[in-house]
Amino acid sequence: MKQGKKKMKAETFNQQEKGIVWMMVDTAANMPVTIYSESLGVKAPEACYRSAVWAQDSTRLIGEEYLLNAKRSSLEMGMPMGVFHYSSSIGVKGCLSNRILKEENAEEHGETIKLPKYLPLKESLGSVIRSRRSVREMGKTPLTMEQLSSLLYYGDGPSGRFDFNTFNNMPPTATLGEEYIGTVRCSPSGGGLYPITLYFVAFNVKGLERGVYTYLPLTHSIQLIRRLSERDLEDYNRISNFGINIENDTLGIAVYYVYSLYDNSRKYGDMAMQFAYIEAGEIAENIQLTAAGLNLAATDIGGYEKGLTEDFLGLDGLTRHIVHLTLIGTKK
Ligand SMILES: Cc1cc2nc3c(=O)[nH]c(=O)nc-3n(C[C@H](O)[C@H](O)[C@H](O)COP(=O)(O)O)c2cc1C
Repeated sequence: MKQGKKKMKAETFNQQEKGIVWMMVDTAANMPVTIYSESLGVKAPEACYRSAVWAQDSTRLIGEEYLLNAKRSSLEMGMPMGVFHYSSSIGVKGCLSNRILKEENAEEHGETIKLPKYLPLKESLGSVIRSRRSVREMGKTPLTMEQLSSLLYYGDGPSGRFDFNTFNNMPPTATLGEEYIGTVRCSPSGGGLYPITLYFVAFNVKGLERGVYTYLPLTHSIQLIRRLSERDLEDYNRISNFGINIENDTLGIAVYYVYSLYDNSRKYGDMAMQFAYIEAGEIAENIQLTAAGLNLAATDIGGYEKGLTEDFLGLDGLTRHIVHLTLIGTKK
């Protein structure tokens, strides 16, 4: 729509424009004059009531508290010490390079399902980026295992190797082997710590039992957390009302981005949470673009019940938190 100045009669203005202009003026006028309004004694009306509506315990939003306290000064030693410790400690690197053992162990106990190879994405990157849209109306055709594999692989799958021993020059040991190798993935992560784990609820994937699963990227497998009965589905629908245009019985999968605070906060301190949100976004965008490239329907969702869904997925909500959600299905 072309915008610009336009002459009109007062009558037309009153009928057509006044309502929306009034709302915009009202919104703008009620923005706090400054984030320091509390200490300066300047308070716009909205700041007087928002503590009751939005913020907890004060007139500040949690986000304001965080931003005002993040990176206060380079004299704060927490983060540099954490980073130094991680860069110099061979113990830390040993742990990171051995992460794959955890997944292999799960595999040996027969709890995992190996995913088929991901599909090639043939469209050009430019056209996929341009064509991506949030698609909320989905069809009832199930997703295939190859599509599931591709969404998880391009989202957060393994795509390279990284030698942790470059600077330390440690000799080979029986415990760590010849090389101290870690795996890097399709999405970037601060320090290669990968604090985001993908959980997903599979509703309609051909050849896969309905259930809650987690993605094991290093072995490109999935692990069943629990099967879902009809009763469980009812529970899910009760806690998951995603709004108009989204019908739960058309969903293929719901991908939850789960943040393990202690996976990266030991290194990054207060910056860790910021990194986690960024990283969830990076994975989510890869998943969105993969969905677009495979002609699937996908939409990100902020409107989920965090605590109740954590219960549903079997997360404690203390060390592991849902930070984002993407719904995916076939197109209508
Ligand atoms: C963090 C985030 C949260 C979102 N939450 C919702 C949501 O709860 N419900 C919804 O229908 N769409 C949601 N969306 C999708 C946006 O509405 C959508 O991306 C936006 O309208 C732009 O449209 P597009 O994705 O088609 O380009 C969300 C997107 C993001 C990135």
